[in-house]
Amino acid sequence: MAAFSLTINNKKHDVDVDPQMPLLWVLRDVIGLTGTKFGCGIAQCGACTVHVGGNAVRSCTLPVGNVGQEKVTTIEGLSEKGDHPVQKAWEETDVPQCGYCQSGQIMAAAALLKSHPAPSDEDIHNAMTNICRCATYNRIKKAIKLAST
Ligand code: FES
Repeated sequence: MAAFSLTINNKKHDVDVDPQMPLLWVLRDVIGLTGTKFGCGIAQCGACTVHVGGNAVRSCTLPVGNVGQEKVTTIEGLSEKGDHPVQKAWEETDVPQCGYCQSGQIMAAAALLKSHPAPSDEDIHNAMTNICRCATYNRIKKAIKLAST
């Protein structure tokens, strides 16, 4: 066990956990932020995507001991009132079907738009590798285009 002071959604959280514990476990089971989902546990599906230092990261394989001083943002902290441009575009485009993967999809899309405010189809294809078993990919792409500048 080791003590860590994490900044999550601009709030300090002191946790005492195994440094090898994946960040996803800390978020969900220790801190209680359950908006980030577990899918595969091997960095393949993207359901667990959060931002660490502003970058989209698959939190199921990131040991909490490697987070350091980087700020962590989860779906709960992406915006104050669910009004991030990506969230608004998601709503307008009616993207989700079952919804399970969507917080990860939204976090991946928000990171993409931060680095590429007007992404090409290729940028979207390369960045959006999260899996959706309902295959909402066309609506995801449409929403990203809508949220882009
Ligand atoms: Fe992390 Fe699937 S749960 S990538």
